[in-house]
Amino acid sequence: MQIYTKPEELRRLRHELTLAGKTLAVVPTMGNLHDGHLSLIEKAQSLADLVICTIFVNPSQFGPEEDLDAYPRTPDADLTALRRYHVDGVFTPGVEGMYPPGDETRVTVPALSERHCGAVRPGHFTGVATVVCKFLNMIQADFAVFGEKDFQQLAIIKRMVTDLFIPTEIHGAPTLRADDGLALSSRNAYLTGDERQRAPDLYRQLVLARDRILQGERDFEGLELSAQDALVRSGWRPDYFSVCSQQTLQPASATDTDLVILAAARLGQARLIDNLTLNLKG
Ligand code: PAJ
Repeated sequence: MQIYTKPEELRRLRHELTLAGKTLAVVPTMGNLHDGHLSLIEKAQSLADLVICTIFVNPSQFGPEEDLDAYPRTPDADLTALRRYHVDGVFTPGVEGMYPPGDETRVTVPALSERHCGAVRPGHFTGVATVVCKFLNMIQADFAVFGEKDFQQLAIIKRMVTDLFIPTEIHGAPTLRADDGLALSSRNAYLTGDERQRAPDLYRQLVLARDRILQGERDFEGLELSAQDALVRSGWRPDYFSVCSQQTLQPASATDTDLVILAAARLGQARLIDNLTLNLKG
């Protein structure tokens, strides 16, 4: 497995692959890799001849009060896992490499960033879109794979790639969950033993809301309030629980057919996000 730290090295790799007629897929991450990340690698391997993974804890997507310093960093375990998965290369730039002195350009996708995590974490999605744009420009991959767990992030990246004519095809991959339904996340490390037992509540509320919609419920606001109440009663601090249109991420109307229920809530020190999609046909 090749370790790259400089954009020039990626340029060279891309050039060699183009000459050899080979395709390349990239999986961007912030490290602390778990099985969810590794499922993206497997998807990338099914798409392209070579796969590279990026590991970079991107400062510009963390707010001043957020967990940039505390964010779990496990470089040795990450490299071991990537080797075990036969990943071809890993790109681990430094902050100066991604944001050299004088850097000031930012990428913003305003309407899709307005609500949900974008409202709770101002500037977060500008940080995400900017760093992903930099990666996609550096790597010039044929494919990039992102998790549906971060549904709003995936929607924003797809929009950016379309709007900026970035020649990389974006693929989503399903959310990997623990047996009790909790979506795998690096931030689950912040949960105490007791909180870990209660953490699947968030997914359970999503399933409950989805089932009620499938049974014909169309009072989305009522559903949102009752889910938030249930979470508060079991000790959570919800940021949002929202039935939306998959396309616009705006509140769903009774005539929308492609829905996503987006949720974020805090339990102790951890802020967990999750979502479920559902399609109402006919
Ligand atoms: P990170 O949180 O490390 O996630 C990297 C990728 O793994 C994202 O596409 C995320 O959606 C996906 N992922 C996380 N948990 C998952 C799970 N349980 N099942 C499937 N996929 C999962 O998201 C980021 O990093 C950053 O914002 C990044 C895009 C790298 C930009 O800095």
